[in-house]
Amino acid sequence: MKLAELVRKARTCRRFGESAPISARELREMVDIARIVPSTGNSQRLRYLIVGNPEGCARLFPKLAWAAALKDWPGPAEGERPTGYIIILSEANDATNVGIAAQTIQLAASEAGYGTCMMGAIKREEIKAEFNIPEGMNVHLVLAIGKPAETVVIEPMPADGGTAYWRSEDGVHHVPKRSLEEVVVDYSSD
Ligand SMILES: Cc1cc2nc3c(=O)[nH]c(=O)nc-3n(C[C@H](O)[C@H](O)[C@H](O)COP(=O)(O)O)c2cc1C
Repeated sequence: MKLAELVRKARTCRRFGESAPISARELREMVDIARIVPSTGNSQRLRYLIVGNPEGCARLFPKLAWAAALKDWPGPAEGERPTGYIIILSEANDATNVGIAAQTIQLAASEAGYGTCMMGAIKREEIKAEFNIPEGMNVHLVLAIGKPAETVVIEPMPADGGTAYWRSEDGVHHVPKRSLEEVVVDYSSD
């Protein structure tokens, strides 16, 4: 698959098919891809906690908040939840490095037929306690992964410029994206 197509396909997924769980081995392979991405000064400070069994998934799920823009949706119901997670950790303030790693994992997951939701609305201290994460380690981002069980389509921005995603009555998830004309800037003329 061409990179542009893969990037287009790698949309946030929030409903999954639990009958086809991702394995801990596959999650580990995704980390193996991400461990060689660029990092500031080649610091490679990120660490990855793999949650690849049903018990771990059940313990992590209550620590996550889903789809703030879908006010009436409490998150994936039993039977449509992620079957694996990668928790990105670092002792430092590593937001840029985390982003590079997270997107790399999301692309690898998408290429392998899995959907991902990057999650920052998480109960960090509770996750640290639940998974025995050492005091100095920051929980940056949780990547929720599984077989996609929803259709996500990219839409042009609405006239009011709102960035909120929405779900139509047929269950399709719609994500507005700005046009190329809007995002390429040129401050050189007047
Ligand atoms: C750093 C980051 C944190 C996010 N945190 C959450 C989250 O806590 N819960 C959630 O449901 N989605 C979360 N998302 C997913 C965004 O809502 C999603 O990327 C956005 O709606 C655009 O959809 P797209 O990824 O399909 O382009 C997060 C995305 C990023 C990049």
